[in-house]
Amino acid sequence: MTQGSEVEIAQSARELFLRAAARFASAAEKAIQDSGRFSAALSGGRTPEKFYELLSRPPFAQSIPWDRCHFFWGDERCVPPENEQSNYRMVQEALLSRIKIPPENIHRFQTEFPPQEAARRYEDDLRGHFNLGPKDIPRLDQIWLGLGTDGHTASLFPGGTALAATHQIAAADHVAALGSWRLTLTLPVLNAAAEAVFLVSGTEKAKITRRILDGSAPDLPAARVRPEPGAPIWMLDKDAAGLLG
Ligand code: 6PG
Repeated sequence: MTQGSEVEIAQSARELFLRAAARFASAAEKAIQDSGRFSAALSGGRTPEKFYELLSRPPFAQSIPWDRCHFFWGDERCVPPENEQSNYRMVQEALLSRIKIPPENIHRFQTEFPPQEAARRYEDDLRGHFNLGPKDIPRLDQIWLGLGTDGHTASLFPGGTALAATHQIAAADHVAALGSWRLTLTLPVLNAAAEAVFLVSGTEKAKITRRILDGSAPDLPAARVRPEPGAPIWMLDKDAAGLLG
């Protein structure tokens, strides 16, 4: 049924977010042991907010060495950072404003620039952080992803130009379904991650979750997240998992 994905089902949304926080802390500990730092990309939208809030509180807030953690975003809306639609603002309010983390460890999309330039600047930031050559793809330690009911993830939308990007690290896309510009990490970056983790909650995501996990929609963006080596990790609450066999 799950086409080689790793699926973890929590009995409630609260348990799901606690498990997510534990997974984040464990990945951070391992990465910092291995390389001295942890580079993670966070997802936006509504689902992960409670997860980020848990990280800002005991026991996680005191146990994670924030000065060794670098935060990126999987995608961003093309709005100012203080706008209520901003994924950066959501993470800033739920987590970053509540922990001691050096400002240089926070790598947001610079949405004060036009979309294409913001994507290019983000790409430069990642190339610098990972000391990459012009054709290299960064390998983040962990990338958190949400799932839209249309099968989008990050801001990789069905039929979008960003989804087709093969060599870029970040891309700007005018999303017809939203009538707005979005910025996103590209599929090659998601598939290079040491861990790509989908966090999905609620009955409204049950149908699309089943479509992705039963392999019946292989062309949808979320179905194309297949890190090599390894497998995508799907963390679901029982509502989102409600239609799985
Ligand atoms: C965004 C996200 C997007 C989100 C899904 C699910 O900027 O909105 O990155 O990919 O994860 O749309 O959103 P919800 O969690 O709000 O359902």
